[in-house]
Amino acid sequence: MKIGIDRLSFFIPNLYLDMTELANHRGDDPAKYHIGIGQDQMALNRVSEDIITLGANAASRIVTEQDRELIDMVIVGTESGIDHSKASAVIIHHLLKVQPFARSFEVKEACYGGTAALHMAKEYVKNHQDRKVLVIASDMARYGLASGGEVTQGVGAVAMMVTADPRILTIEDDSTFLTEDIYDFWRPDYSEFPIVDGPLSNSTYIESFQKVWNHHKELTGLKLEDYDALSFHIPYTKMGKKALQSVLDQTDEENQTRLLERYEESIRYSRRVGNLYTGSLYLGLISLLENSQTLSSGDRIGLFSYGSGAVSEFFTGYLVEGYQEFLMTESHQEMLDARKQVTVAEYEAIFSEKLPENGESAEYTSDVPFSIYKVENDIRYYKQYTQNLAFIS
Ligand code: HMG
Repeated sequence: MKIGIDRLSFFIPNLYLDMTELANHRGDDPAKYHIGIGQDQMALNRVSEDIITLGANAASRIVTEQDRELIDMVIVGTESGIDHSKASAVIIHHLLKVQPFARSFEVKEACYGGTAALHMAKEYVKNHQDRKVLVIASDMARYGLASGGEVTQGVGAVAMMVTADPRILTIEDDSTFLTEDIYDFWRPDYSEFPIVDGPLSNSTYIESFQKVWNHHKELTGLKLEDYDALSFHIPYTKMGKKALQSVLDQTDEENQTRLLERYEESIRYSRRVGNLYTGSLYLGLISLLENSQTLSSGDRIGLFSYGSGAVSEFFTGYLVEGYQEFLMTESHQEMLDARKQVTVAEYEAIFSEKLPENGESAEYTSDVPFSIYKVENDIRYYKQYTQNLAFIS
């Protein structure tokens, strides 16, 4: 019995900042942002959105009435947790009205957390084939105003329903992983923003890819020409391309061109959103599946997950017969197109807003489906303002 991703969706806030405007404002050449880094727009959230609202909004697009009874676990991969103790998954479980006899928890290892959650889900479903696991990768990639990483910021969540006999992508048992204790990007408990060694993070990403890719090749015998596409963790869209290019001399020119074309399809959404940390690889996968005109059922996709610190994994999946029917291409593209552009001044003001702390209260209104409507006694209260676009069951 094959296990894998049965449903797949993402959610991003309805505001964005244009990268030309940011570059001009910061005194940089816009070509650096668009070409050197490969980012065109940055998703921006309001203060009444957090990883819980993003995750609930992404998941509510794929969770059907029947799923609520069949989900045994809600796992959230994140590095933007809102509480040192209580897991966001518990609140999302409540907001989505999942049956009570379920496990709900968070996993953390920088951007790798979503992949850890996905594989944990797969192992559970292998032994409980009539049950489902809801995996959410939800994050706010924030480096700070005018910081080195600012141009790579982003916000959003991806939700995946993991089941037996999946209708989109099987996940194979062929992962290769790597752990190396490296300080390329980390965020001490006291700090709102991460500490980043940009050049080290870039080189560690590429070296980690080469290591897990070559190890995978040795173990499985699969070469670049055996893949219909490769999908990467995308901290900014130039990054995955550099990693891919670093191994392309292992194949001929025709395969190089083909894999680079698929890579371009996998970064279309990320160019307009930015880094989603745990969700980035899966936003790339959605972009690939929804924008490629050449992929078809039975195709083999390779996935590279990277979390600073550093843990990485390479694994494969096969596209299932009829997978196109279960994609949400139109509504995803509508969500991207319907966003409102903000000025740099608006971005700076919205980015700097904070929820009340130390027991203070505040109330909010919103036009985003799930949002925070008040904070009181250090508890965030959530409300569903509008229905999210429902997905077919
Ligand atoms: P920087 O100093 O702003 O940029 O840092 P740069 O000077 O290195 O330039 C970037 C590229 O733009 C270069 O291209 C320049 O040549 C080019 P490259 O040589 O690398 O191919 N460039 C131009 N191109 C066209 N026209 C121009 C122009 N000027 C320059 N006029 C950096 C960039 C990515 C380091 C910074 O933004 C940063 O620190 N970002 C955050 C860290 C990051 O994303 N690292 C990626 C790997 S780590 C990772 O993936 C994990 C992560 O997701 C976190 C987690 O796991 O939780 C981040």
